Amino acid sequence: MTDAYAVIGNPVAHSKSPQIHAAFARETGQAMVYTRLPCELGKFAATVRAFRDGGGRGLNVTVPFKHEAYALCTQRSARAEVAGAVNTLSFNNGEIVGDNTDGVGLTRDITRNLRVGLRGASVLLLGAGGASFGVLGPLLAEAPAQLIIANRTLGKAQALAARFAAQAGACNLAVSGFAELRGRQFSVVINATSAGLNDDMPPLPPPLFAPGALAYDMVYGKDTPFLQFAQTHGATVADGLGMLVEQAAESFFVWRGVRPGTAPVIAMLRAKA
Ligand code: ATR
Repeated sequence: MTDAYAVIGNPVAHSKSPQIHAAFARETGQAMVYTRLPCELGKFAATVRAFRDGGGRGLNVTVPFKHEAYALCTQRSARAEVAGAVNTLSFNNGEIVGDNTDGVGLTRDITRNLRVGLRGASVLLLGAGGASFGVLGPLLAEAPAQLIIANRTLGKAQALAARFAAQAGACNLAVSGFAELRGRQFSVVINATSAGLNDDMPPLPPPLFAPGALAYDMVYGKDTPFLQFAQTHGATVADGLGMLVEQAAESFFVWRGVRPGTAPVIAMLRAKA
């Protein structure tokens, strides 16, 4: 039987993951199928177990199940433990093994595809929800000089910074409200808020972008108000499509032990958009 994988989420109908993994499988000559697995709220564990018992080998987990996936695992990678969330499940010898490839997907897209260095950079991370939580560990591992977490609800930014304090090393990890950013400049600004999904953005005071700065929105396929604002203020802009493909490539590597090329897949998805 062909090895079966899927993306589980709610909603999942518009996920690009099947296209991405089909392209990876073609390129690397791996025999596998990858489908969408819609899941009702409250039925996550039962749906995962039914997929596994039917011969499934692994799942990507998307909104809103990444924390339930974390709880369901019998083993977790170090990066899943740090993120407190799981986006990649593997079914190995009766174990449910959890990993998180979101953060490394973001840092690879920034450093390898966009060729923007994070070591020594001054980074502003907007938002303190699940998306920020998932990427903060890998961002700190790149050793920026400073990383400021700005959020509407300051207490959430403080809790996030406190949780990751031990991994900050020499990085100045601090929090801020949006208004307090006035007069400050950053070389990399990452929007991990969900505001763009509602055509909104945090109230950011210019000038925020240092000359040559990168503005990155983790939302993909959308010219968000944040990216429009960044472009107006002279930043280089990128949406989260590269991150999506890079996190998929890392999941593919976890499952298959083979690392697919990502540039052709990013180009294919951009051409279709
Ligand atoms: P996710 O898992 O996508 O991060 P979340 O946990 O609900 O979702 O977090 C959403 C993040 O976007 C939060 O940081 C939220 O700010 P609050 O913590 O203050 O709620 C932020 N956010 C959403 N809409 C926003 C808006 N219009 N302006 C600023 N921040 C916004």
